[in-house]
Amino acid sequence: MSVTVFPGFVRLADGGHTLDFHLRWLRHNCDLDRHPTTGERTIDSADPPDALALLGATIDDGILRVRWAHDQRTSRFPLAWLRQHAYAVDRALPPRPPSATSTLEIDGRFGPAVVVARVLSHLAEHGAALVRREIASPESETEAWIDAFAARGLRTTATHFGRIEDLRTDNTTNANTDQLGYTDAGIDLHTDQPFLDAPPRYQLLQGIRAADTGGESILADAQAAFTYLTALDRDAAARLLSTPVRFHRKQKSFEREVIAPLVTVAEGRFQVRSSYFTAAPYQLPFDEMESWYRAHDRFVRLVRDPQHQYRFRLAPGDTLVYDNHRMLHGRTAFRGPRWVRGVYFDPAAAPRGDEDRTG
Ligand SMILES: [Fe+2]
Repeated sequence: MSVTVFPGFVRLADGGHTLDFHLRWLRHNCDLDRHPTTGERTIDSADPPDALALLGATIDDGILRVRWAHDQRTSRFPLAWLRQHAYAVDRALPPRPPSATSTLEIDGRFGPAVVVARVLSHLAEHGAALVRREIASPESETEAWIDAFAARGLRTTATHFGRIEDLRTDNTTNANTDQLGYTDAGIDLHTDQPFLDAPPRYQLLQGIRAADTGGESILADAQAAFTYLTALDRDAAARLLSTPVRFHRKQKSFEREVIAPLVTVAEGRFQVRSSYFTAAPYQLPFDEMESWYRAHDRFVRLVRDPQHQYRFRLAPGDTLVYDNHRMLHGRTAFRGPRWVRGVYFDPAAAPRGDEDRTG
């Protein structure tokens, strides 16, 4: 018999079977909070805090012991009692969102034209590709990447920043630089351009110059996280599909908005839009606001869990390409001359992003 702790529940492995128990169910039914002589329960399930977490869980001598984070007390459950009251036996457990950066990595020593086919197959399989390459002047290779993608039916998509973005604090080459990407601030997970009818499908990010400190890149697979959320909390996942969100980008010389759900699945194709810094104040029926916040926040906490993220340094010469309809991306704060170059791509037949409305 063994116990594994997951966000919100524990799994016992017992003689070839698994038994899952929610933390709330355990705390509601535990041996604490009982009358000392009658053994009756002295609390309601509404009494413990909303967010429950464990400091640890062990099994010894036929007893599951769990230690609670909010009050440091320990509950004891005889395994025979758990077997008798089990409600989730042999439940299929979906994989947690992936985090092993090595699965994204491609040896880029032979250059863009040679590795582009592998990049595209990584994009289809993992949602991202990280091409490792040592090169003296990475900025001289941007057009070679653009040509390599063009030969595969992907063309650049200009946005209100321009055709190629130089993400650096001393930017002189782009328009509309009054936004976080051109600062040294940390930027938490988001998708790009959710306020467009057709957000660009892929973004290429070239490491040109390293930061002195910080500037770590973060990626999370929102499609895997949504599948995982569906298995944990079907109602929350349904809320993400059905609740309209207004994404509103307002800068000094640019304004655009779109109303769309956080997640859409059209003809089997997944698309996520998520951007805490361009989400307008929610306008929902009063009796839906709390369940929306609960669903949204649960999704965001899943992807913000470092165990559900790829984290890596984009060294000078390295190139990251990710699917902006599937992956969330971000970076940690940094100091120094970090310079990352960004280019968006779309399939040649797709609607063009914001190219003809740049202003
Ligand atoms: Fe971004």
